[in-house]
Amino acid sequence: MHIRPRRNRKNEVMRNLVKETYLGAEHLIAPLFVVAGINQKIAIKSMPDCFRLSIDNLIIEARELFNLGVKTIALFPAVDESLKTPDAREAYNPNNINHQAMRALKEALPEMMIMGDIALDPYSSDGHDGIVDPKTGEILNDPSLEVLAKMAVAQAHAGADIVGPSDMMDGRIGYIRNALDKEGFTNISIMSYTAKYASAFYGPFRDALDSAPKKGDKKTYQMDFANAREAIREAELDEMEGADILMVKPGLPYLDIILRLKEHSTLPIAAYNISGEYAMVKAAAQNGWIDENKAVIEVLTSFRRAGADIILTYHAKLAAQLLSK
Ligand code: PBG
Repeated sequence: MHIRPRRNRKNEVMRNLVKETYLGAEHLIAPLFVVAGINQKIAIKSMPDCFRLSIDNLIIEARELFNLGVKTIALFPAVDESLKTPDAREAYNPNNINHQAMRALKEALPEMMIMGDIALDPYSSDGHDGIVDPKTGEILNDPSLEVLAKMAVAQAHAGADIVGPSDMMDGRIGYIRNALDKEGFTNISIMSYTAKYASAFYGPFRDALDSAPKKGDKKTYQMDFANAREAIREAELDEMEGADILMVKPGLPYLDIILRLKEHSTLPIAAYNISGEYAMVKAAAQNGWIDENKAVIEVLTSFRRAGADIILTYHAKLAAQLLSK
């Protein structure tokens, strides 16, 4: 045998010489949940070690992440049921809990980048990402754009550095880009949830925000998980409409989509390692079935190997701690 691939694996120094993929804390974005009140740290049953945090505790958590090298957070508000309406107008209230948190974070940690989520579900009494036609139940595309754009502008005013439209309405990237630019926010980035699939793995996140749809599902706007070429079509549109970064979501069952978008586009690619993926690792680890630390680094490295530049993950803090050792 002249060719023995094992020679390149013979010891750690050799393995490091030939390592193809690098994972660092600087690639990670930590999603955090904010809730009204003070000194709140409310456990989320289906997401062990994740909490709904009031702003005071949110700042403590953000500072810890920043010091570990995770310098971007994605903020998701848990909104009181009494503030949810069919038109989701709380979404662009300048004083809603999301905007209060953004302002407080910017004041406490000016160098931390904040990403805001653009979709109506946390504020909608219907639990949908767009406006629902009360007669037909249809999710109305064009009327939703107006609200999403107002939301993006309100978040920019509150201090968001990046907005992440996760709603999957057609034409939203261009519509939001126009609205931001008109208000002078030409430096606010758009990370588009480009290929967002209708997935069973969002369950724990919907528990975290009490944001599950009251009726029906999200299949008329989120993509069919049987489709890959359609992701390229979405990517081309987002690119033309002015997206800065393209995201694939969920992550692990869609590594093929990450690779396809990476090869098709010159934009940076993000992957969202979502709540259900987090819950699976946590549950198996808590049962003693897998080693959480090892699994987390393996999962996150696989995203980088597939072509993701950026990874949103609820394991960001643990990963950063492990990587710093
Ligand atoms: C809402 C939104 C969802 C997630 C991020 N933004 C859920 C959904 O579309 O129902 C999911 C994140 C996760 O599961 O970790 N537009």
